[in-house]
Amino acid sequence: MHRFHYLFLIVVVLYLLSCSTSNGNSLSCIPNTNCSCYFEETSFILSDCDYALPDLPIPKNVEQLTKIIVQKGLTRLPHKLCSYKNVQSLDLSESYFEIITDLTCLHQLKYLNISSCKIRWINHNALNNLNELKTIDLSQNQLVKLNCSLFKSLTNLVSLNLSSCKLEQLTNFDLLLSLSHLRTIDLTHNELLTIDSISTRTWLHLTSKWFNSWENSLAINTSISFTTFFHNKNDIDQSDIKNIIKKLSRSIFSNSSSLCNCRDMFTYQRIFNNIRLESNKTKAFIKDRPLFRAMCSITTGERLYLFNIKNYKQYCLPTTTSTMVSMF
Ligand SMILES: *[C@@H]1O[C@H](CO)[C@@H](O)[C@H](O)[C@H]1NC(C)=O
Ligand SMILES: *[C@@H]1O[C@H](CO)[C@@H](O)[C@H](O)[C@H]1NC(C)=O
Ligand SMILES: *[C@@H]1O[C@H](CO)[C@@H](O)[C@H](O)[C@H]1NC(C)=O
Ligand SMILES: *[C@@H]1O[C@H](CO)[C@@H](O)[C@H](O)[C@H]1NC(C)=O
Ligand SMILES: *[C@@H]1O[C@H](CO)[C@@H](O)[C@H](O)[C@H]1NC(C)=O
Ligand SMILES: *[C@@H]1O[C@H](CO)[C@@H](O)[C@H](O)[C@H]1NC(C)=O
Ligand SMILES: *[C@@H]1O[C@H](CO)[C@@H](O)[C@H](O)[C@H]1NC(C)=O
Repeated sequence: MHRFHYLFLIVVVLYLLSCSTSNGNSLSCIPNTNCSCYFEETSFILSDCDYALPDLPIPKNVEQLTKIIVQKGLTRLPHKLCSYKNVQSLDLSESYFEIITDLTCLHQLKYLNISSCKIRWINHNALNNLNELKTIDLSQNQLVKLNCSLFKSLTNLVSLNLSSCKLEQLTNFDLLLSLSHLRTIDLTHNELLTIDSISTRTWLHLTSKWFNSWENSLAINTSISFTTFFHNKNDIDQSDIKNIIKKLSRSIFSNSSSLCNCRDMFTYQRIFNNIRLESNKTKAFIKDRPLFRAMCSITTGERLYLFNIKNYKQYCLPTTTSTMVSMF
């Protein structure tokens, strides 16, 4: 009998809550918390919960909900998340999660914000087949090591933020590079970041998948240098290197710590010159692309532009006088 009364009461409360929504009222809606709830037809916002929630409440219009925002509210990944099976936009930022086990039930998900959630581990199948997912904000977590194979099935992913994640090591990075819709990867503020080296075979496989165009380029913002990221492989031909350069042209690599190498500079300045001569349209494209401002250092500590013919000549070509710097 008691149990029935209790259930009845919950139904009444939820009903009242859903009635009060149209005027955007805020009520303290969850017992023993200070949460404010804002319901609308398709969205649901909880605020001021102050980390008092072990799980999400299930309102009666749960099937209509496409947007949920619960910041600073949860103490762990909600068990009942799968009840929100039509959610497209999910912001659970600034919660305490530590581990992301499985989000695969959220088939409609387009936007996922789990930044500042103290996440240190994500199960390797957790994001599988979320084909609609366009944006993931994972910034300000504690991932340390991340296997990018995690993202391999996100065919519509556009933006991934991994800034300030204490990242030391990224593996299978080529799986990210192969996602054809991906446009930004923020890897900044990960001091000791290393990215596993991509083999010649993999580069060739990637270039065969990429459209040879400026529009589809990818902005990776990272504290590693371009020459560390892309070792100029002798067995990759110029047209493929050009394709790689186009793809990465919006990326911001670090200027520090990579030593100038004349063979690399020779390749890059030649490709750059070729691109420049292509058409006025290309000229306009390359003008603002940060990759072409990438620099390397020489032993005196001075920095040179990797893609600049003058810098190349000045440093690499033998002069009639004194110092000879060999070309290769
Ligand atoms: C609700 O807020 C009051 C006043 O700020 C505070 O004393 C109380 O601890 C809060 N309750 C919970 C469950 O957080
Ligand atoms: C994610 O949420 C935080 C606030 O918690 C916000 O600052 C950030 O802009 C959001 N990220 C995106 C991609 O909207
Ligand atoms: C990534 O998140 C950080 C905050 O955590 C923010 O400052 C930065 O602008 C975001 N990057 C992008 C590309 O939105
Ligand atoms: C990354 O994950 C894939 C798939 O789970 C696995 O096959 C691979 O060995 C992992 N790589 C590393 C370096 O852990
Ligand atoms: C790239 O990261 C640096 C360092 O955090 C930041 O100053 C810069 O604004 C970022 N650029 C873009 C385009 O996100
Ligand atoms: C590298 O140096 C060039 C020239 O000073 C500058 O335009 C560019 O922003 C620098 N890149 C970074 C990531 O600091
Ligand atoms: C390309 O630029 C040159 C010099 O800036 C100009 O003379 C020429 O008309 C331009 N061509 C086209 C097709 O816009």
